[in-house]
Amino acid sequence: DERSYIMIKPDGVQRGLIGEVIKRFEQKGFKLVGLRMLNVERSLAEKHYADLSSRPFFGSLVDYIVSGPVVAMVWEGRNVVVTGRKIIGATNPAASEPGTIRGDYAIEVGRNVIHGSDSVENAQKEIALW
Ligand code: GTP
Ligand code: MG
Repeated sequence: DERSYIMIKPDGVQRGLIGEVIKRFEQKGFKLVGLRMLNVERSLAEKHYADLSSRPFFGSLVDYIVSGPVVAMVWEGRNVVVTGRKIIGATNPAASEPGTIRGDYAIEVGRNVIHGSDSVENAQKEIALW
């Protein structure tokens, strides 16, 4: 079955949103197949977001991801990659719809609570990496 890498970022953990995130994915019908809470090494954060390394916000993005523990999860189910991105909402919370996680819980693009893989191929890479 299809799998996605979903990660609650440090702001989501600090704000007590772990249960809320898990609830939304469970209620949709997806299956949690792996979960780990960890402090992220800088090198791991840099690898995870390697595609963005030339962007001006890359340094602050890495600072953000290493600023506290994250909850790394693998979720499984039909179309979980695309549907997971819908549950999460648009990257910039200014554009994410109410009813999505970012739409309901975030206001800043640099503190947007959660990560979700953007393709099946990247999901496989991210699951292997994490
Ligand atoms: P992820 O699920 O975290 O990968 O987000 P995404 O796929 O919706 O967006 P993308 O992969 O393009 O960017 C990764 C992360 O970088 C975003 O979630 C933001 O936290 C951050 N980011 C993206 N664009 C900007 C930006 O313009 N400014 C700042 N400060 N951060 C950004
Ligand atoms: Mg992304």
